[in-house]
Amino acid sequence: MNINNICCIGAGYVGGPTMAVIAKMNPDINVTIVDINTDRIAAWNDKDLSKLPIYEPGLAEIVEETRGKNLFFSTEIDKSIDASEMIFISVNTPTKTYGKGKGMAADLKFVELCARNIAEVATTDKIVVEKSTLPVRTAQAIKSILVNTGSDVNFQILSNPEFLAEGTAVQDLLNPDRVLIGGESDDAIESLAKIYASWVPQEKILRTNVWSSELSKLTANAFLAQRISSINAISELCEHTEASVSEVARAIGMDSRIGPKFLNASIGFGGSCFQKDILNLVYIARSYNLNAVADYWEQVIILNDHQKRRFSDKLISTLYNTVSGKKIGMLGWAFKKDTNDTRESAAIYVADHLLSEQANIAVYDPKVSKSKMQSDLNYLNTRSKEENEALVKTYDEPYKALQDAHAVAIMTEWDEFKTYDWKQIFDSMKKPAFIFDGRNILDKNDMTKIGFEYSSIGH
Ligand code: NAD
Ligand code: UDX
Repeated sequence: MNINNICCIGAGYVGGPTMAVIAKMNPDINVTIVDINTDRIAAWNDKDLSKLPIYEPGLAEIVEETRGKNLFFSTEIDKSIDASEMIFISVNTPTKTYGKGKGMAADLKFVELCARNIAEVATTDKIVVEKSTLPVRTAQAIKSILVNTGSDVNFQILSNPEFLAEGTAVQDLLNPDRVLIGGESDDAIESLAKIYASWVPQEKILRTNVWSSELSKLTANAFLAQRISSINAISELCEHTEASVSEVARAIGMDSRIGPKFLNASIGFGGSCFQKDILNLVYIARSYNLNAVADYWEQVIILNDHQKRRFSDKLISTLYNTVSGKKIGMLGWAFKKDTNDTRESAAIYVADHLLSEQANIAVYDPKVSKSKMQSDLNYLNTRSKEENEALVKTYDEPYKALQDAHAVAIMTEWDEFKTYDWKQIFDSMKKPAFIFDGRNILDKNDMTKIGFEYSSIGH
């Protein structure tokens, strides 16, 4: 099929950057990203590029180059679906918060609504591409909805999971390790492969069956998250044995079978994907009665929760077993640097624990707004909105956030934190002045020379 028009349903962290790059690399194809969220679409269309709803290095430049030429953001979903030969479904698939599978299974209601929407309005043949991360065998459900419309429109379904990481999305898209396309129809697979082939070498475009493609995405995330839980498990052992987790990571990472990436011990992984996708994998395994498989992967999450908890426990015990009424300065709220995304950020859970111990929290993050921080805490439902407002103050300047603080907790590895005038910060803090470096970004010797009581993960 010749593709001249693409529609992407879902203008989020995946739909936005992915389609912007497809549009940049295929100037002859019109790409329209649609969403039910009118505010989000308005922000994507904002003349002021600093107001785009998603912060990713390099993204604003691509949007500036393509928007209004062959990249469009719209709320006219039906019109865009019918005008396109290829439709990407890139909507959210969060963990279910109700009913069967609550807290474990992926909630597929948004995906199903997209399939029904496509079935309703399509008058010409379409290739429907699953871009969202989906449980293995979801394509079957989508197909069943699409083929039972009674019309003679022909639908082909492809799985094309996205492997970008936030903060490096544009680079990951421009130079992917691989592009994965799963499908039944060679014609449909090649129509999509041709779009990627505009910039991705053929040998990096993998073709598989649909089920392998769906399951590969969950498996990749599970393996990546497992590495972090593995090094975090070792970090706790290091803290009891005078081994250094950085030295251990370096030593094992030089083994080419293990490799050096993704071995940074931390306060625990966050983000919208790892936890959700592993819980989903665990749920699927249990649904086939594969309890040993499910228990194995669940442990990755259990260890991650433990890592977040032991960070706040250590902070409290070091501050003489109480943080009640004390000011804790938090640097960073995003789940990693170079993104404004806070979904499942460890900062939220550490803050919530400290608030339950009656701490006062002062936060600075270069990209996360006060309202986002408040809504993250309110979502947990641990205390009232008013209490969260009273106990958590947000600053747009780090030095003020840390003034008179009893301790600094580093939650995100933003580069700018390394270059602060730490002597000035020390002078403005209560003594003894503590740093809890949840990202191992500061130098212990430098900090102790200034006078800080410094502790990090796994040392
Ligand atoms: P997101 O929440 O940022 O964006 C999803 C968008 O879909 C929202 O703007 C929402 O309003 C819209 N939407 C939902 N239902 C809709 C409907 N029926 N019609 C029109 N719009 C609708 O989510 P995201 O982070 O972009 O993730 C999307 C998918 O990609 C998920 O399955 C996720 O697991 C997967 N994924 C995410 C990442 C990542 O780094 N965020 C990476 C790889 C894969
Ligand atoms: C992840 C996958 O990397 C990506 O391929 C997939 O498409 C979506 O999920 P993302 O969650 O955006 O991407 O970021 P990632 O870089 O994987 O980091 C996830 C979390 O792990 C962050 O909180 C990060 O700080 C943490 N992390 C990562 C560590 O604690 N240590 C590491 O060594 C690496």
